[in-house]
Amino acid sequence: MTTAPILTNQHIFLTGGTGFVGQAILERLLNSHPDTRISVLVRGKGSQSAEVRLSNLLRKPVFSRWIERVGEDEAKRQFAERVKVIDGSLSNVGTLPSDLDVVIHSASTVSFDPPIDEAFDTNVGGAHGVYGAILASGSDPHVVHISTAYVGGIRKGIVPEASLTHTVDWRAEYEAAKTARARVEFESRQPEALRRQLAKARARHGKTGPQAVAGFAEAARADWVRERLVDYGRTRAESLGWTDVYTLTKAFAERAAEELWSQAGHRLSVLRPSIIESSLHHPFPGWIDGFKVADPLIIAYGRGQLPDFPGLPDSILDVIPVDFVVNAALAVAARKAKPNEAKYFHVSSGKSNPLPFHRMYENVNAYFVENPLPSETGDIVVPTWRFPGGQRVEKALAKREHQAARAEKLIERLPTTPRTRDWLDTVSKGKHGLIQLRAFTELYRAYVQTEIIFDDTNTRALFLSLPKKVQKDEGFDVTEIDWEDYFQKVHFPAVTTLTRAFGKRPAAKARATKALPHRTDVVAIFDLEGTVLDSNLVKQYLQLWSNTVPRKKVVHDLANFSFSLRKYWRAERRDRGEFIRTFMRRYKGFKVAEIEQEVRGGFGRAMMRRALPEALQRVQEHRAAGHRTILVTGTIDLMVEPFVPYFDEIVAGRMHERDGVLTGFLADPPLVDEARGAWLRLYAARNGFDLENSYGYGDSHADLVWLQLLGNPSAVNPDIALYRHAREKHWNVLDWKRGAKPSPRVTGSEPEKQPITEGAGKAS
Ligand SMILES: NC(=O)c1ccc[n+]([C@@H]2O[C@H](COP(=O)([O-])OP(=O)(O)OC[C@H]3O[C@@H](n4cnc5c(N)ncnc54)[C@H](OP(=O)(O)O)[C@@H]3O)[C@@H](O)[C@H]2O)c1
Repeated sequence: MTTAPILTNQHIFLTGGTGFVGQAILERLLNSHPDTRISVLVRGKGSQSAEVRLSNLLRKPVFSRWIERVGEDEAKRQFAERVKVIDGSLSNVGTLPSDLDVVIHSASTVSFDPPIDEAFDTNVGGAHGVYGAILASGSDPHVVHISTAYVGGIRKGIVPEASLTHTVDWRAEYEAAKTARARVEFESRQPEALRRQLAKARARHGKTGPQAVAGFAEAARADWVRERLVDYGRTRAESLGWTDVYTLTKAFAERAAEELWSQAGHRLSVLRPSIIESSLHHPFPGWIDGFKVADPLIIAYGRGQLPDFPGLPDSILDVIPVDFVVNAALAVAARKAKPNEAKYFHVSSGKSNPLPFHRMYENVNAYFVENPLPSETGDIVVPTWRFPGGQRVEKALAKREHQAARAEKLIERLPTTPRTRDWLDTVSKGKHGLIQLRAFTELYRAYVQTEIIFDDTNTRALFLSLPKKVQKDEGFDVTEIDWEDYFQKVHFPAVTTLTRAFGKRPAAKARATKALPHRTDVVAIFDLEGTVLDSNLVKQYLQLWSNTVPRKKVVHDLANFSFSLRKYWRAERRDRGEFIRTFMRRYKGFKVAEIEQEVRGGFGRAMMRRALPEALQRVQEHRAAGHRTILVTGTIDLMVEPFVPYFDEIVAGRMHERDGVLTGFLADPPLVDEARGAWLRLYAARNGFDLENSYGYGDSHADLVWLQLLGNPSAVNPDIALYRHAREKHWNVLDWKRGAKPSPRVTGSEPEKQPITEGAGKAS
């Protein structure tokens, strides 16, 4: 057992105890400082109360070795006795105990680019709230304020362990940040801005229906607000000489700590760690709580997504294992601090054991050459970086972004085939990689092009002042770190294990072919054209027309048809309902009896030859599983008679007729896009079907709205827009091909004749 408590009989208030560093501090206190009591600030999240979140912490891997050592019951007993929750957040800390000896303020947002108001609220407002609450409690604790080594902003050379020298008025900046959201929200609601969003949404999603378009436009407005607030933060930070809004707000938090605490006569230590990564020794080598600062970059490299990077090969990448930070924090907390005085500690490696960026690169490269990450097509080969300099990387990146955008536009204009979808996949993958590369380039630029060295004289002196046993058991001597050893044997295996664990999503294809559960409260909805039938309204019309048109009308009708094609094409691009309505006018004058005869004869047989066998097989599988199978189509009931035996129900449109002759007008609006969604909701509600567990099969972007209502949507032979959505949402994507064979039967009943239900408004 480690027995070298440097903190004895202390009551410690910890913020950020659910975070990476906070968990490790809590574990160390419980494990190695048996006389301490810890009050932890925790906020409730979702349905979990603060109390539950705190007790759930014990299940985290960080505590596993301690639990193994003392036994589960004893660990639970100690946790219940020594750890108390303070239910609150940084904006509402609540009442603190009056007997605090030490405060460790670790809570923070650590994202580099949050919206400006969120960054200020958490990091600056949060510090304000914590110091206010300590003052109100009547306690006079020694505060260890956890900051970051990068708090000094963009600069070169050695950075001392001292108070920052800037003269920026943090209160004024905080006030400006707080009002930013209201200003941006106001801007986003101006008619010109809304018109732009609506026009974009209509152009991209017009076929999905008016409510969906409004939804897309509103989501785009909210995204715009967020991006603008992120931009406010990033640009304001840069304009004041900081890398990003994270380091800017951490700098202001230090000011708040100095003004509200040390300058008010209390004891303050500011701990500034550099980039914190997995532990070297404690609680076990390689402990990490999710991906940390440098890890997304490491993994993106291992996945082959970073062809080059604008880092300076000789800049220092300042990494520090988390156990060193924890040990330093506790040693700082235990030091004899003086009132009215703030002392600063860099917990960093750059000065005493520097790791140049090119050495880090060589390490990462060697690791992934030796242990490549797998992909669907084999092991990923990692790129070789040449460090051509920031400007050349930027130029190459901009050129590739331009090429990817052009390729994407081109593909969107091509007819949809499995091959164009493959092309889109390749371009989208490349584009995603470029977006990531751009984000990384911007986010990490300051960290990998930096020429800063953090002086660590205070931290080293503190380490040397510790008893030998503490130095050994709870030390933070960075000169002992062998970087090659640390990366190859500890850190990279830890983060790649996480990647492999996260990557275990079953492939869409595997999910699609999974056996269907037997239940009678679900529906399987099939669209007709493009999904069950390799045909469309135009082809059907032409076939029926060619079988029935009198000779003398052929030339006239063909000329008229060619003349109207552009009109149909435009209508189809705008709105599926408009297209159906416009196109079906061509049936004016057709005799119902004649159509019925054709459908029973040659037309019907030709239609069934175009039916997709895999679709009919899927229908049978759903029937065998007890699901209600429904074919829903925008076309008219007369045409779909051949499908009647295959489905439990067919919902189709109807055309108005007079004296047995079609007038060319639909009896109801076509049951497509949102109208189909509305019908489906009503149908499920009236008949007691569970949409969450139901199935849907559609091929067009116009099917998006109703497919979204179902728990198991599949995009069948999708057009590019639906395909893109399906990929984003991890829906099944199915390629059902045409074949002349009759549909294979799976199990269960032979198809039997079912009634056709009429379209819109008929939901029972
Ligand atoms: N990670 C690094 O590489 C690094 C490097 C240098 C310095 N630091 C500093 O080290 C400290 C800890 O970082 P970390 O990596 O442990 O971060 P983390 O894993 O993201 O944890 C952040 C902690 O802050 C809490 N928190 C955030 N906003 C809060 C709010 N409004 N009210 C109450 N609690 C809130 C979170 O609580 P919830 O669980 O409720 O969200 C969580 O416990 C930070 O001060 C950071 O600036 C970190």
